[in-house]
Amino acid sequence: MERALPGSPDQPVLLTPGPLTTSATVRQAMLRDWGSRDPAFIALNARVRERLVALAGAQGSHVCVPLQGSGTFVVEAMLGTLVPKDGRLLVLANGAYGQRMATMARYHGRRVEVLETAEDQPNDVAALERALLRDDAITHVAAVHCETTSGILNPIKAIAAATARHGRRLLIDAMSAFGALPLDARHVPFDALAASANKCLEGVPGLGFALARKEALAAAKGNAPALSLDLHDQWQAMERNGQWRFTPPTHVLAALEQALIEHEQEGGVAGRGARYRENRRILVDGMRALGFETLLPDALQASIIVTFKMPADPRFAFEAFYDRLRARGYPGKLTVAPSFRIGCIGRIGPAEMQGALAAIRAVLKEMGVASGRPARAAA
Ligand SMILES: Cc1ncc(COP(=O)(O)O)c(C=O)c1O
Repeated sequence: MERALPGSPDQPVLLTPGPLTTSATVRQAMLRDWGSRDPAFIALNARVRERLVALAGAQGSHVCVPLQGSGTFVVEAMLGTLVPKDGRLLVLANGAYGQRMATMARYHGRRVEVLETAEDQPNDVAALERALLRDDAITHVAAVHCETTSGILNPIKAIAAATARHGRRLLIDAMSAFGALPLDARHVPFDALAASANKCLEGVPGLGFALARKEALAAAKGNAPALSLDLHDQWQAMERNGQWRFTPPTHVLAALEQALIEHEQEGGVAGRGARYRENRRILVDGMRALGFETLLPDALQASIIVTFKMPADPRFAFEAFYDRLRARGYPGKLTVAPSFRIGCIGRIGPAEMQGALAAIRAVLKEMGVASGRPARAAA
């Protein structure tokens, strides 16, 4: 970690699912300008696309299509481009991001069905199989690898296997998982996944990308409901001259290349995943010592973000808790009441997690809260 003193109001440690804490070297990679036709930028763009494909073991089978905007833009572009106008989408939802995909497909005028499980339950693969057997019209299945609403890990391998077994196509929102949780196209069949620069890859926010199977993307001409979100068109244009169709987020790409170099130096997906697991262990152990309980059992919990139940103590007011933590440089994020989330991802390690715990302990003391124990356990 490059900061001697983790967490200060002007250089906060971000404990949210994004934007995330980045390294100084990633931020420094943005200290020059590039023209969109600059050969150096075109080469940089090509290197980043190749690296991203390689991270998913998808060389030869898939292409990387980057897109301006936050992660939502590329998820919407993926669904809009790859689900044809006469297609039918089955969305597996156990949180806000699954539901958002269903909303997008409805916006696009696609036929959508949602297979919902509770926010603390993984996607139901047996129910998926039944739905695919029941309804021949379903062409595509959409799933969220790590549903960041709760931090739950969905059984993406089993979902992919079931979808392929029934001859349907899988689209994955891998936003909060890509780069830290393994997903290998050689073993997990998918037509496309969507992710972004500023989650587990630890770049800065501003672009997302899809890894799309070449044949699926080639067949998707004319599907997209919006020009700017047309991944087929974006791909074709980039294949022609290496350039983006519209003003590229040049600095964000430069930062992403540096972030990908640092990802590799850390040991790739395995190394990054190991650091996040250790972050989660420190956080959860420390919070449990303070009486807090996690929403999810450890077996369902990805090392991305952890949801804690709201303490029963009436002196615990979340807004005040959050504001006081922020004043100490540790913003977290609220999720579905009565719970709150703390992230384990970004350029943070043991020092930052210990620092966050110390700040939480101090804030609880200031508030006069003796224990983080939630209502049911306290009764
Ligand atoms: C699983 C998942 N999908 C989609 C998104 C949306 O990304 P963004 O907020 O960058 O638009 C997020 C953001 O946290 C996410 O975690």
